[in-house]
Amino acid sequence: MLKEYYKDNLDAYEAKSEIQKLSFYPMMFQSARVMFTTGILNEVYKKRRKGISPKEIVEILDLPYYGVNTLLETGLTIGLVYLKGENLYSITKMGFHLLFDEATRVNMNFTHDVCYKALFHLEESIRTESAAGLKEIGINDKTIYPHLSELEEPYKKSWFDFDHYYSDRAFPEALKIVFKDKPKHMLDIGGNTGKWSIACCNHDADVKMTIVDLGAQWNAAQENIKNLGLENRIFGKVGDVLSHDLELPQDADAIWMSQFLDCFSEPQIEHILTNINNKMHKDTTIYIQDLFWDRQKDFAAAYSLHGTSLYFTTVANGNSKMYHSRDMIKIINKVGLEVVEDIDEVGEFHTILKCRRKK
Ligand SMILES: C[S@@+](CC[C@H](N)C(=O)[O-])C[C@H]1O[C@@H](n2cnc3c(N)ncnc32)[C@H](O)[C@@H]1O
Repeated sequence: MLKEYYKDNLDAYEAKSEIQKLSFYPMMFQSARVMFTTGILNEVYKKRRKGISPKEIVEILDLPYYGVNTLLETGLTIGLVYLKGENLYSITKMGFHLLFDEATRVNMNFTHDVCYKALFHLEESIRTESAAGLKEIGINDKTIYPHLSELEEPYKKSWFDFDHYYSDRAFPEALKIVFKDKPKHMLDIGGNTGKWSIACCNHDADVKMTIVDLGAQWNAAQENIKNLGLENRIFGKVGDVLSHDLELPQDADAIWMSQFLDCFSEPQIEHILTNINNKMHKDTTIYIQDLFWDRQKDFAAAYSLHGTSLYFTTVANGNSKMYHSRDMIKIINKVGLEVVEDIDEVGEFHTILKCRRKK
């Protein structure tokens, strides 16, 4: 279905117009964001029936006329507002979504707070395969991962809101899929704040969970787990999945990795899956829940994942991305595992690849 979009199907005029728009995307992004943060768009929304003039907005919000007028004019070509009468603005459907669509808000905050300045270093990141923009959010390291729980605001809130927005929506359906097999002990690799492990314990009274994550992240998760009195059911294994000697509990009958393997390069994914395959017992089931851009049902979702890839390039570690499912499945097969079930649209955007060791 998405293949329809990946064609050279614009006429010459449309093509020139689209590429000329692209030159100004970053400016228009900021303009749209500031129309939201200043409250200008909300005032236009409130007076959408009659329309509102720049002067009226100036009086309500106590902002300089110049700025209000300039933003409203750019809002016309972005498509956030339209003219209802002479100098009277009303809100478009796009403007409505900017105001009220949670995904848009989460994505815009992530883009602005975590990625925007870092993207200035994209070329360096591409040339050096390193997260050259990470320093822009105050981290001097090779990857963002050991620092997630100590990020400063607003980076921290925007990062976790973005991560959780997507996985939270997939979890209810994912629970039904994973618990069909009634796992007794599950490893939650890259368990982050513990949300999945906690959800599993709430879903099934008998399951025992072990979160595998980096030290600082496990400390943060542990607090949430203790607050809920789940410390006798959710355990922690602090370790680096990229190390060569990471031991994993032998008795796990299920291994869960959500939005995890996309944090690594292809050779690293091969290393992680090889290690898991070597350490697990032969009947363990592995569930890989990830977002693959080729599996999205609409263009906007695939576009967002390509944008997210650039976060990995410049901020996260310089060499990971949101993958095409074909590339992930190739690695799964290469390490001696096989996909036994392949389920799309878990929540809305995720795919679960249920894997076992090849017979
Ligand atoms: C994107 S988050 C995954 C969040 C969570 N599983 C979810 O679905 O929302 C990636 C997690 O992997 C962890 N991580 C990153 N690199 C790691 C490594 N080398 N070893 C172990 N954990 C790692 C991070 O600390 C973080 O908690």
